[in-house]
Amino acid sequence: MYKLNDAYIMSNGTAVPCIGFGTWQTPEGQTAEESVKTAIKYGYRHIDSAALYENEAGVGKGIAGSGISRKELFVTSKVWNTERGYKKTMAAFQRTLDNLGLDYLDLYLIHWPANKKQFADWEEINLGTWRAMTEIYKSGRAKAIGVSNFMPHHLEALMQTEIKPMVNQIEFHPGFMQQETVNYCKKNIILVEAYSPLGTGRMLNNKTLKEIAAKYDKSVAQLCIKWCLQHDIIPLPKSVTASRIEENSKVFDFEITDGDMEIINSMEDFGSSGKNPDEVDF
Ligand code: A2P
Repeated sequence: MYKLNDAYIMSNGTAVPCIGFGTWQTPEGQTAEESVKTAIKYGYRHIDSAALYENEAGVGKGIAGSGISRKELFVTSKVWNTERGYKKTMAAFQRTLDNLGLDYLDLYLIHWPANKKQFADWEEINLGTWRAMTEIYKSGRAKAIGVSNFMPHHLEALMQTEIKPMVNQIEFHPGFMQQETVNYCKKNIILVEAYSPLGTGRMLNNKTLKEIAAKYDKSVAQLCIKWCLQHDIIPLPKSVTASRIEENSKVFDFEITDGDMEIINSMEDFGSSGKNPDEVDF
């Protein structure tokens, strides 16, 4: 990847710009609208949103006001946990389109798997949601479909269906690599996207990362983003600050050495959210 919009190709042949702009915890309204416009101004073409973030309307306004045509943008959203199952997912998808003011999405994801802690029939529930996702995909209203926060055992049933998930969006940053899930996805040609690539900001003061970043004359944020790319994982850094939005896009003029990649790969987990998809009760 040599520039912001070089693309990874999904299993269905669809291109995904290699860095996405994250919007989790971005306040709805003016902030969402302006930060999305700013990101697009700095060259981002991939915007990641979700119904849960409750800012789809602002994100949509940012997209509409960006001056860039819809077909040049790659827009993702996600179905929230209360909307699982075939019927509710179909309705939730339409609400998301309406909120964003769009007539199609580039990528629609199941936000979290139903898990066995909450549901005896968790696998059936996930398959019901997936049936809706498949129908939406076949109708052309989502150009690609996938999941988020799925571990291999959640993915297995979906991998037996006609249309397989093309993307899995997971928490991924130095100190939290979810190696088993990443390996499973790579083996099954599921692209991995990294949410919280900066550990939701928690990694930014890490001493090891600071030392390595200084060697390249880069910030820790830029180091984390580049480290994702060198793992062939799509980072989705979030910021509402124009200077940081710009900074996070400038990661194509350096390469992390194999030795430094190895040091970062072996860092301990002290920055993960602690949300285990099998344990969460939302
Ligand atoms: P803000 O949105 O106020 O600019 P993640 O992408 O891992 O979820 O991290 C997002 C957090 O990191 C936000 O608090 C964001 O702050 C902050 N952040 C994003 N980019 C940078 C950067 N380049 N330097 C410092 N902090 C950043």
